[in-house]
Amino acid sequence: MVPPFVRQTVREMEGYSPGEQPEAGQRVVKLNTNENPFPPSERVMQALAGISSETLRRYPNPTADAFRDAAAKLHNLSPQHILAGNGSDDILTIATRCFVPPGGILAFPDPTYTLYGVLAKLQEAKAVAIPWDRDWSLPIDALVGSGAAAIYLANPNAPSATFVSPLKVAELAKNFSGLILVDEAYVDFADDNCVVLLEQFGNVLISRTMSKAYSLAGMRFGYAIGRPNVIAEMMKVKDSYNCDAVSILAATAALQDQAYARWTWENIKSERARVSSELTQLGWTVLPSQANFILAAVPTGRGKEMYLGLKEKGILVRYFDLPGLQDKVRITIGQSHENNALLAGIKMLTAAGKAA
Ligand SMILES: Cc1ncc(COP(=O)(O)O)c(C=O)c1O
Repeated sequence: MVPPFVRQTVREMEGYSPGEQPEAGQRVVKLNTNENPFPPSERVMQALAGISSETLRRYPNPTADAFRDAAAKLHNLSPQHILAGNGSDDILTIATRCFVPPGGILAFPDPTYTLYGVLAKLQEAKAVAIPWDRDWSLPIDALVGSGAAAIYLANPNAPSATFVSPLKVAELAKNFSGLILVDEAYVDFADDNCVVLLEQFGNVLISRTMSKAYSLAGMRFGYAIGRPNVIAEMMKVKDSYNCDAVSILAATAALQDQAYARWTWENIKSERARVSSELTQLGWTVLPSQANFILAAVPTGRGKEMYLGLKEKGILVRYFDLPGLQDKVRITIGQSHENNALLAGIKMLTAAGKAA
């Protein structure tokens, strides 16, 4: 029984449900949680190997300044434009606490990253999920008319991997007076991004993660890019030492090795094109992806069966038992040999008359 002293909201809500994480050493082809299939940069491993006991004994720099400097340099901005977080989930939590008042509204196009609704509830706010317009285009009027204090836009979106152009986001920003958080967790696999909008719009905030593009999902590091007057308010809300010393070193080293990160992105994008085209030839419908994953509809329309069939073969993909997604699976793009295993598994299931 749930103890009666638990907050009613918490008692009644469902928590966020993450993708399956197999035990260490379990042999699976893991294409279910959008990690980068390549290891982190060698520079990260060197930075970790060089950590002294003194680094662990002392509290970390509370604002992760070494990282802020590196990120500012990368984006051609000042360190005051950057806030570091314990994963971009931490950035989203800080933003929700900072911009969404209890009783207020957090709006987002739906389906999207399911954490947004959870964060709204924890804030005693109302989550307003607005269906995407046709072909996953931005429902600007409905978002503006939602009465929201803040709008969260995953761009590229998860699980669709579709992208809204900066021009459309600008149109939204122009017509909306609350905060617009553009969650760019997957943007390094896309052709464009929204950082340029910060110049024109004071109500735009960008969040980024080191989990996907920089192969550091296990480390937990993300950051926000915003105008200094917005970042300064978020600084008041974050935990005092929200990023640990080890992750600051690793994330800084990863960000500084752009050549390696970009090599992984190019490889993933070319594999994305190959997997999309092979699945299309097998009769699947694949949404054009701007991320390191694809959302693909199974020819039979039975997404769950395909997910379970692949799982039996040791290949993990993600299935969402939600309206509009039940005929689909979301597949993270892996290294070439992993993608080959996926395609072979799908062909075997198809030949056996299962799920295809
Ligand atoms: C759209 C989106 N935003 C944010 C995150 C969280 O990333 P992080 O690992 O930085 O917390 C995810 C993770 O899957 C995501 O899909």
